[in-house]
Amino acid sequence: MKHEWIETHTSHFLILTLLVISIGGLVEIVPLFLIKNTVETVAGVRPYTPLELLGSNIYQREGCYLCHSQMIRPLQEEWLRYGHYSLAAESQFDHPFLWGARRIGPDLARVGGKYSNTWHIQHITAPRSLVSRSRMPNYLWLKDRPLQYSDIEAHLRALVRAGVPYSENQEQYDKNVALFGKDVANRLVISRARENLLAQVAGNADGNVVSPTEMDALVAYLQILGTLVDFKKYDEGYFARFR
Ligand code: HEC
Repeated sequence: MKHEWIETHTSHFLILTLLVISIGGLVEIVPLFLIKNTVETVAGVRPYTPLELLGSNIYQREGCYLCHSQMIRPLQEEWLRYGHYSLAAESQFDHPFLWGARRIGPDLARVGGKYSNTWHIQHITAPRSLVSRSRMPNYLWLKDRPLQYSDIEAHLRALVRAGVPYSENQEQYDKNVALFGKDVANRLVISRARENLLAQVAGNADGNVVSPTEMDALVAYLQILGTLVDFKKYDEGYFARFR
């Protein structure tokens, strides 16, 4: 068949274009109907607490994702270096995903718990004071900038619209208790967001509750990354079923 046959007949061209677009569309849309089979059901994964959520916002604002991925691939060398490969379930509450596309620095998907809060604070402020040849910028301002959280409730409500189960009423709260347990459910109540935020700062970073800083939030976020799933509870065959 000559290409001319397509290009000189509008109807042929139109029909073939529609055909190509529908195949592309199906490839994109069909997986959405199967999403329940592809997101692993694992215990432990929960939405971010208000403080961690603001930390994630700072991570985005500062462009940390431009140098750091959060996506450990199922390849042996990655597994050996970073730990278990990332599960779809682990980023189910992320809006937006922060998987990243480049690794100028190491992957951060499982950095939670790897270093102390004090280490992070010093590293983020002056990376070369700890890793002499680091290429990471000095984020000097995060330690002193007060954390803005006056709009935290609105922020959580916006995420509810995207499907993240923060609770605004008793019904959602009860569901959260069943899903995540009482402790976590209490941390997801929108009307208690500020109170929860300050309580978490108290046990965190520099412990200065009076004026939480952006650093407090960022460190709280980093410390939770990749720590929610207890991989000892599952055998590998279980995850392979979802691939
Ligand atoms: C210009 C690229 C670049 C940017 C932007 C960047 N980093 Fe890094 N980061 C690096 C490099 C390179 C390393 C490895 C050397 C080191 O540890 O300092 C690193 C290391 C790290 C580590 C230690 C990881 C490990 O497993 O040892 C953490 C945590 C980290 N960065 C957090 C951040 C955060 C948070 C931000 C944003 C505020 C950020 N980085 C922005 C390049 C970058």
